[in-house]
Amino acid sequence: MTDLLKLTRPDDLHLHLRDGAMLKAVLPSSAAHFARALIMPNLVPPVVTAAQASSYRDRILSALPDDQPFEPLMTLYLTEDTDPNDLSAAFQSGLIRAVKLYPAGATTNSASGVSNFERVRPVLERMADIGCPLCVHGEVTDDAVDIFDREAVFIDRVLDPLRRATPELRVVMEHITTAQGVDYVRANASGLAATITTHHLFLNRNHILVGGIKPHYYCLPVAKREEHRLALRKAATSGDDRFFLGTDSAPHLDHHKESACGCAGCFTALNTMPLLAHVFEEEAALDKLEAFTSLNGAKFYKLPVNQDTLTLEKSQTPVRFAKTVASEEGDVTVFDPRVSIYWQVQNHVL
Ligand code: DOR
Ligand code: ZN
Repeated sequence: MTDLLKLTRPDDLHLHLRDGAMLKAVLPSSAAHFARALIMPNLVPPVVTAAQASSYRDRILSALPDDQPFEPLMTLYLTEDTDPNDLSAAFQSGLIRAVKLYPAGATTNSASGVSNFERVRPVLERMADIGCPLCVHGEVTDDAVDIFDREAVFIDRVLDPLRRATPELRVVMEHITTAQGVDYVRANASGLAATITTHHLFLNRNHILVGGIKPHYYCLPVAKREEHRLALRKAATSGDDRFFLGTDSAPHLDHHKESACGCAGCFTALNTMPLLAHVFEEEAALDKLEAFTSLNGAKFYKLPVNQDTLTLEKSQTPVRFAKTVASEEGDVTVFDPRVSIYWQVQNHVL
C-alpha cells in the first residue's frame, strides 16, 4: 500500500545556494522540489547592491538544469552603508523581495553585517515605507552571552526595540530555535513572521554532542534544549500562518565541516520535503504540511500561490537518500536525521 500526499508546490523561503561550483552542485536539489526560494546574500563578497543581486540572479538562472522551472527570489545584504535609493528601486522593480540583516560576526560571512543598529535606521524606515520585508538573523554577538542564549537575548535587546522604533517594518525572524522565538511571534499581531528549518525540527543539542560530536548537525543558531525543539514542532505544525518553511539549507564542503574549526550549516535541500512529511505525520498534522511549505510564506511575501503540485508518497520500507552531493571541489554531506524515513517525493530524479 502506498500513501500519497499531493501538495501545492512548496517554496523555500530561506536558502543558501552559494556560487560557482557549489551553486552548480546544490541548485538541482532545490529546483527539483521547490517552485521558488528566497536566496540568501552572504556570498564573499556579499550581495549588497541591486547590480550585484541582478548578476547573482543571472548566475543562478544559468546554472539551472535545462527547462527546470525555478524562481530565485533575491535579497540584499544589509550593511551600514546600504543606499536606501538603490534598495528601494530594486524592491519596487521586483528584483529583490527582502533585505537580510546579519549582526556583524553572528555567522558565516557576516563580517560586513550591522554593528550599530542606529546607523541602519534610515534604511529600515525606507523599507517600512515601501513594504520591503527585513529578514533577521536573530542572535547577539556579545562574547559575554552564552551561545545557547543568544537568540532569546537578541529578541529583548535588539529586535523588540527595533520593531518599536519602526513599527510598520515587516519582519521575518529567520530560523527560530527557541520557545521564546515562537512566543514572540505569537504575541505580535501583524507584520511579524518566522521561518523554521527542517533540521531544527529534528535536533536538540544532545544530538550534536552526545556519543561523539556530529559536525553535520552544527549550524547557527545552534540547536537548543528538547523543550525548544518541541515548541518549534508545535508552531510549524499548528497551521498558524505566521510560521513557514525556510530550510536554511547551507552547504559546506565536507572537509570544511569535518575540521578542528568546522563551519555552521546543514545541507537539507535534497530531502527536506520527505523529512517534513515525517515530522508532520508524527505530530498527526499532515493536513497542515501544505500551509507550512506552500501557502503561509507566499501569503507573507505577497506572492501568488504556486499552480503546480508536488506529490509525496509513503512506502513500507525506509527510503535511502543520497548520502552526499558531489561538487567539482568535493562532497557535501546530505542531512541525515538518523531515523527511518518512509516518505519520498514521487518521481524524484536528480
Ligand atoms: O548554519 C548556518 N549556516 N547559519 C547561518 O546563519 C549561515 C549559514 C551559512 O551560510 O553557512
Ligand atoms: Zn541562513
